Amino acid sequence: MAKIEIKLSDIPEGKSVTFKWRGKPLFIRHRTAGEIDTERQVPTASLRDPETDDQRVIKPEWLVVIGVCTHLGCVPIANAGDFGGYYCPCHGSHYDASGRIRKGPAPLNLEVPTHEFPDEGTLVVG
Ligand code: FES
Repeated sequence: MAKIEIKLSDIPEGKSVTFKWRGKPLFIRHRTAGEIDTERQVPTASLRDPETDDQRVIKPEWLVVIGVCTHLGCVPIANAGDFGGYYCPCHGSHYDASGRIRKGPAPLNLEVPTHEFPDEGTLVVG
């Protein structure tokens, strides 16, 4: 299966950049310290699809998710919505900066694909 290699220095802190991978959008988000703190403090029991932030990221600075809404498959918009992460305009699903569903009809968190950091400046997805 195809892998994609991403140079992390191309993604400034606070930005979510979209790549194309296996025919789908792939969101790579360079999270700020504030975003990391916020997501770590979310009470997991309150979530529709309960996952801690730690379960979703390998390195806290980097969120890696498939950019396909788990409702009916639209592409969410970065840095939008009520939870500072992603917003799907099709039917109003709000995801946080960990890609977790927080409000709206989507049933599940944005999918985290298999990924690794072979060295300090590189991410490999797939
Ligand atoms: Fe995203 Fe329906 S497809 S909210």
